[in-house]
Amino acid sequence: MSISKCFTTADFRARAKSALPAPLFHYIDGGADDEWTLTRNTVAFSGYQLIPRALNDISKIDLSTKVLGAEMSMPVFLSPTGMSRLFHHDKEPAVARAASKAGVMYSLSTIATTTIEDVAAAAPGSKMYQVYIFKDRELTKEFVARCKAAGYTAMCLTVDTPIAGNRERDLRFGMTMPPQWSLESLASFAAHPGWAWHYLRDSNFEIANVAHRQGALSEEGAMGLMAYVNSQFDRSLTWDDAEWLAREWGGPFAIKGLMDVDDAKRAVSIGASAIMISNHGGRQLDGAPAPVDRVAPMRDAIGDALELIVDGGVRRGGHVLKALALGATACSVGRPYLYGLAAGGEAGVARVLQLFREQIERDMALVGRASIKDLDAAAIERVPGM
Ligand code: FNR
Ligand code: LAC
Repeated sequence: MSISKCFTTADFRARAKSALPAPLFHYIDGGADDEWTLTRNTVAFSGYQLIPRALNDISKIDLSTKVLGAEMSMPVFLSPTGMSRLFHHDKEPAVARAASKAGVMYSLSTIATTTIEDVAAAAPGSKMYQVYIFKDRELTKEFVARCKAAGYTAMCLTVDTPIAGNRERDLRFGMTMPPQWSLESLASFAAHPGWAWHYLRDSNFEIANVAHRQGALSEEGAMGLMAYVNSQFDRSLTWDDAEWLAREWGGPFAIKGLMDVDDAKRAVSIGASAIMISNHGGRQLDGAPAPVDRVAPMRDAIGDALELIVDGGVRRGGHVLKALALGATACSVGRPYLYGLAAGGEAGVARVLQLFREQIERDMALVGRASIKDLDAAAIERVPGM
């Protein structure tokens, strides 16, 4: 079925499920523990209602905005996600090209399968590099230098992954890095010949920006993703490290994974430009609140000192309008574009972004606002009794 017949993120999720071997689909789709937070991230949007205004001229609707110093065509950008090679042979460059053509920022993960330089060369446009600070601090300094040289426009530090969340689907489906041909996974890979063909043709799998340093993967090659994260990530991180990185980078700097209002105030004090209000898409602490529910408390705590980005659970344009009316600057999405990547490579990601644009534009017209700047507290209320 052509991806032009995909009309929602859910349609793309279904396409991704049929396109990918089970361990890889569930690595994208799954969350931690009971997946309560994963579910809450999207369900929480139903706790708000949009209050439409009538008889406003909505003949021209302006979705443009500026986030982390980047001019964007709409208030949605792509969150950093690891190992895109697993989901499509065109990897991170395909996603970066789709983001660039759509006029939105692309975020490259530390756990990416394409180098900082190759992603920069793949497409023009604003790019953010997402840092996990490894025990090997020299690596982090190297990231900063390489991103400056490659023209990245922003950097974010992910702080909600001091250790890996408990991803029971990954344990159940034997998700390892790189994918292993275990008996169960072999059956699943064989049932997806399109994917298997490309993987066999180019099974050069590596975490491209760290593979040159010792210990990028365990000596014996593949290891469970959670084991990898737990072996490399630095649990001793403090706000001093975040302040150090913000200073080293010296450009627009976001902290990704905050949910606490006192932490929001700390982010202001160390010179951050933005907070990505996030629980890692429900993949880390199960029981964490939905990002959309943290916008108002954080905005009340810090005023306009920082840009606030809702990262997690956004599946429709209407969710973006609710986040902005509550005080967010923009939203970022992970799974939606990965479903698109798995379903159709760059064209799939482009279609997902086109759907967001169409949905946001239509809902702006229906809510009676001609510019996202007009999305203020008057446009939103809690659903009574929720
Ligand atoms: C992620 N996420 C993530 N975040 C990060 O800071 N570094 C990373 O390497 C990854 N890797 C990653 C892989 C996969 C498969 C997923 C689904 C997610 C989290 C991501 O940036 C973002 O916070 C969530 O995906 C947002 O939630 P939604 O949009 O997926 O609901
Ligand atoms: C994940 C790590 C790579 O969520 O951030 O899978």
